[in-house]
Amino acid sequence: MLPPAARVLDVGSGTGRPVAEELVAAGCHVTGLDVSPVMVRLAATQVPGAEFVETDVRDWTSPPQSWDAVCAYFPFLQMPRADTEAVLRDIARWLVPGGHLSLITVPMDAEAVPVRFLGHEVELTSFGAADLESRITAAGLWVLSTYSEVFEPDKPGAQPEEHLLITARR
Ligand SMILES: C[S@@+](CC[C@H](N)C(=O)[O-])C[C@H]1O[C@@H](n2cnc3c(N)ncnc32)[C@H](O)[C@@H]1O
Repeated sequence: MLPPAARVLDVGSGTGRPVAEELVAAGCHVTGLDVSPVMVRLAATQVPGAEFVETDVRDWTSPPQSWDAVCAYFPFLQMPRADTEAVLRDIARWLVPGGHLSLITVPMDAEAVPVRFLGHEVELTSFGAADLESRITAAGLWVLSTYSEVFEPDKPGAQPEEHLLITARR
């Protein structure tokens, strides 16, 4: 699916594991973006073969058609819906024709819902599955596949949650 030495952008790259680490091991050139300096430091230590940039993806830009693939695993949960729509349009522009977006989120019709996450109060925003698909299409991408499964965290008291994987192509 990816060309040799593919250029892959990982939006909300977190600790760099497993996504950036596995992509680097597969020979990809990976750039991770994360707004958290702690995450960026951790990722840079754990995955020295990738580049990590401390930035809010909403403030970042890239030349058009400069990435073979973009991963976005869970960064949109912390963004207003209009910002997610704008970033999806950016991603569509940054991808080469035929390039792929791989996105994972927790699908739900929720806007700024307060939840407790790892001991902190945070607000979650997301889309239901069909709404998210239509946003991706509106951004200029073709949805190729969707896959959903229930994730069962192994932490005491943590609730199972649905994870939705959407693969799309420019
Ligand atoms: C739930 S973590 C997931 C990390 C990683 N993608 C994974 O699947 O393990 C979401 C990450 O997105 C980052 N993030 C959230 N909003 C962001 C933004 N506006 N720009 C860049 N990174 C963001 C957070 O700092 C966090 O590291």
